[in-house]
Amino acid sequence: MATSHDPGAPEPRLDEKTALLSGRDMWSTKSAEQAGVPSLVLSDGPHGVRRQRQDADHLGLYDSERATCFPPAVALASSWDPDLVGRVGEALGREARALGVDVLLGPGVNIKRSPLCGRNFEYFSEDPLLSGVLGTAHVLGVQSQGVGSSVKHFAANNQETERMRVSADVDERTLREIYLPAFERIVAEARPATVMCSYNKINGTYASESRWLLTQVLREEWGFDGLVVSDWGAVGDRVAALLAGTDLEMPGGDGHTDAEVAAAVRSGELDEAVVDTAVTRLRGLADRVRAGTGPCAVDFEAHHRLAREVAADCLVLLRNENRTLPLAPTGQFAVIGEFAAALRYQGGGSSHVNATRIDGPVNELRALLPDAQVDFARGYDTTGSSDAARLREEAVTLAAQVDTAVLVVGLREDDESEGYDREHLLLPPDQVELVRAVARAARRTVVVLLNGGVVSLEGWHDEVDAVIEAWLPGQAGGGAIADVLTGRVNPSGRLAETIPLRLGDTPSFLNFPGEQGHVRYGEGVMVGYRYYETAGVSVRYPFGHGLSYTDFDRTDFQVTADGPDTAKVRVTVTNTGDRFGRHVVQVYVTAPRRPVSSPARELRGFAKVALAPGESTTVVIALDRRAFAYWDTRRHDWVVAAGQYRVQLADNAHDVVATAVLDLPGDQLVQPLTLDSSVSEWFAHPTVGPALTSAMASGPTGVQTTAAAEGTADTLRLLSSMAMRQFLQFLPGQIPHELLEQLMRISETSAEPVCG
Ligand code: BGC
Repeated sequence: MATSHDPGAPEPRLDEKTALLSGRDMWSTKSAEQAGVPSLVLSDGPHGVRRQRQDADHLGLYDSERATCFPPAVALASSWDPDLVGRVGEALGREARALGVDVLLGPGVNIKRSPLCGRNFEYFSEDPLLSGVLGTAHVLGVQSQGVGSSVKHFAANNQETERMRVSADVDERTLREIYLPAFERIVAEARPATVMCSYNKINGTYASESRWLLTQVLREEWGFDGLVVSDWGAVGDRVAALLAGTDLEMPGGDGHTDAEVAAAVRSGELDEAVVDTAVTRLRGLADRVRAGTGPCAVDFEAHHRLAREVAADCLVLLRNENRTLPLAPTGQFAVIGEFAAALRYQGGGSSHVNATRIDGPVNELRALLPDAQVDFARGYDTTGSSDAARLREEAVTLAAQVDTAVLVVGLREDDESEGYDREHLLLPPDQVELVRAVARAARRTVVVLLNGGVVSLEGWHDEVDAVIEAWLPGQAGGGAIADVLTGRVNPSGRLAETIPLRLGDTPSFLNFPGEQGHVRYGEGVMVGYRYYETAGVSVRYPFGHGLSYTDFDRTDFQVTADGPDTAKVRVTVTNTGDRFGRHVVQVYVTAPRRPVSSPARELRGFAKVALAPGESTTVVIALDRRAFAYWDTRRHDWVVAAGQYRVQLADNAHDVVATAVLDLPGDQLVQPLTLDSSVSEWFAHPTVGPALTSAMASGPTGVQTTAAAEGTADTLRLLSSMAMRQFLQFLPGQIPHELLEQLMRISETSAEPVCG
């Protein structure tokens, strides 16, 4: 097997080259050994290797090789811990290598625009910073083992409804501030081997055919130097896709698109250099990943232990009235729910892993509580084949006899999956009825939730004592749940997405999943907590929320500018409780008035710390320029406005603990005025405004303008939105034309800070 390209090797012919750029079969590329291009194996996925053999399907219907199923992204993100995610990445990389996989198809870093997206379990967060930081750690981990990552799905693939052809109609600022930054960060900080373009269109153009996306933004602006692979079947027009920057078409089909590309070169429609560039990138990928090829032994037991450790740090303790948790080591407990025996731990579709083993919560709890009595009742049935009332009765009878009832409930396998979106946020009604009935009967009730997409807690939340959101926790999730229930692990997960009160409260509600081939991202940048906090909409639990069995003090919160648009945040965290625990420091920024509407606050930095009882540490978080910038659609660039920024230390997106004010000078930019600029823009211009005011007051004719003379605030307000062109028509002769010409020239050369 060739491991690197020999410059003396013969160049492949045109037909060979076009053939190299589409898959050989579902999971591998073709080879041209003489030309130094080996066949490469690509496999899903984000939280476990799904290595299928030749008789493979593509959506996980047939079993793949056994591999560790780590917690899917929805859970991983709740750890808010890049180090932990990096360790998962390393383990994935090792398993991929051992199974002969060159490129692992993940992570998925699309933003959770709506809680209804059927694939939210495969994505990290509603926030681009959290998604980007964790995605970076994932890629660095996988690639440290010599395996390439494929960051997906680029871009604006935020729903499953019509996912293969819907046009995501998103404005420029929203793309730049919400939907692209996670990809951008990963490209800059982790240098992924490949990026996978998505199925959907963006503003009418298929992602696979978008030169703006795949070449201008991804390569020219961000410096991506890897290979762009299509999502499986995402290429409709292969020539257009190659021209746009999609190098490799997967899975490839019968070869007729290879012939189309060759014909396009021969007819002059396509420059052969485009094909050559894509082949060079494919070769570059081969060189990169094959350099890491070699024997790689996997200790599946160790990976299972890692999966458990990780899952435990991902669980989010949402509610814990009267310190119901952790459970006492002795006493009588009832564990209720089919999922407590047969864990729901991953989602359906292409990411489906053939787990090496699966731990059920009830067995694991029994193992950790040898001195307690732990009984089990099924409580509900996920297939609908048993009598729900009878199962409920049995569970209620048991719950009435014990100290604490632990209910494990959640979404059923087919309630959510790749390929379709949900239509509501509700748990199955029989499970809700069960929770309410048990809560009435039991002395104390704990609910453990297993779900890939957010579920509503309404109708039962206030009736139970404690709630753990376990998401889909991977194959070792049962042990992790037992660890947190018993206090063997102190919970430290934080919500990576908001839990709303009602579906109707969610920002994309009126525009999801779209109609007639289009989905309009009408909420703009107000996604997730950005919307709830800005509009003052109450939620059940805010983004960033999560409780602990210990307490943390935050002191000496300081923010200091260390450049015109950068700052350092410092805070000392002390574990004031009596057990070891981890805490997530969250830093948000509120912008001053600026030329664009701004969310009430945005997450701009975070760090997770581990502290023994009584221990303190000082956390330093750097806020870079981007923490203060908005995307300016006139300049098509990032701009920092001048003014006072509030930097907030917060427990979550809603509860601010401390605030510091940072005065930033803002970018000094030339803001040329034209006759189409508004009167208010003319007057607000820092150099031109005062010159105009004084010139008008004493005008060349010595006559004051009507506006200046009558000069009331109301009059100026009335005129302020007029273009200068119209203003001049309404008040002819009041401002000499030469003066305007002169002021416009001044505005073309004087750099001024950008203000609101
Ligand atoms: C999915 C990708 C996946 C690919 C290969 C597609 O349908 O969208 O996420 O990697 O299939 O299984």
